[in-house]
Amino acid sequence: MNVLVTGGTGYIGSHTVVELQQKGYDVFIVDNLCNSHLGVIDAIEAITGIKPHFSKIDLCNAASVKDFFVRNRIDAIVHFAALKAVGESVEQPLKYYHNNITSLINLCQYAGEFSVKDFIFSSSCAVYGEPDYVPVDEKHPVKKAQSPYGATKQICERILSDIAVTGALSTISLRYFNPSGAHPSVLIGELPLSEPNNLVPVITRTAAGKRKEMVVFGNDYDTPDGTCIRDYIHVKDIAVAHISALERLREKKNKERFEVFNLGTGRGYSVLEVISCFEKVTGKKLNYRIGTRREGDVSKVYSDNKLSNAVLNWKATEPLEQMLLSAWEWEQKI
Ligand code: UD1
Repeated sequence: MNVLVTGGTGYIGSHTVVELQQKGYDVFIVDNLCNSHLGVIDAIEAITGIKPHFSKIDLCNAASVKDFFVRNRIDAIVHFAALKAVGESVEQPLKYYHNNITSLINLCQYAGEFSVKDFIFSSSCAVYGEPDYVPVDEKHPVKKAQSPYGATKQICERILSDIAVTGALSTISLRYFNPSGAHPSVLIGELPLSEPNNLVPVITRTAAGKRKEMVVFGNDYDTPDGTCIRDYIHVKDIAVAHISALERLREKKNKERFEVFNLGTGRGYSVLEVISCFEKVTGKKLNYRIGTRREGDVSKVYSDNKLSNAVLNWKATEPLEQMLLSAWEWEQKI
């Protein structure tokens, strides 16, 4: 079975490609390499022994997307390709709306024309905005997103659910909490071209001396230690969930043509708790200071994962210590 993985050289994409290949799927990666490296293809091959097919395509270019579908027979799509920096999205909203939404529209357009029905969408807990309650479950209303990044995920989900009504596509949207860590092989991990702005790579880069210090964005939130709370989940656990979701669609076990599932551990950690856990497991002292809040951040979000546990028959297995250790091992390699 041929699976198109958009953004397959990116962080979550590359880990999912590995899991797909190990399950026997033939993977076709499409990526514009705007924030990832071509060398990831070789790293994937080093792990699985199989080189994925690769096409350098910008999904915002409709003609290139069409040409891809003309040349390749695709049975299902896992769509990761998107811009994902919350802070940057606040500064450059149009870049985010243009890229994340145009690429989805082009992909859906040609998936329809080429009769590809099964679609897994890479969504985010950002769709919940500042949640009314935690742990947040899938029944929680989609509230005004705190950032344009979050808004693009909401709009893409809306587009996919509208298409589902027509029967053209069946979608499972996976709402990730905070993916962290690296593959146990330490051959792939988070490797953006631009300076990373997610907490775990910022911590590891600071500890490795690649940054002088790190800033904790605010300690005046309504949380026990005043810093934001998030649900950090190992990227490999996230990747494995995509296989369950894909199998659910292939076996036509989905109850609706548009379904959503949270992918989180169900446990929240504050920024200071993550820092202290990192210091404990690695023995490294982190040079950090408390700064002001970052625009677009919500104070507290972690998952109720009962639905994905029960319906996808999936569970996150790796604890925070393991995520931080593998991220640290990876940092020392790159
Ligand atoms: C957001 C999305 C998440 C998405 C991710 C993609 C929300 C609630 N979550 O994650 O679904 O996968 O973007 O990028 O919108 N922090 C610092 N200093 C730093 C970096 C981060 O204090 O240098 C803090 C942030 O303020 C935040 C926490 O660490 O409280 C996590 O931040 P980050 O890793 O950037 O992820 P989110 O913004 O939570």
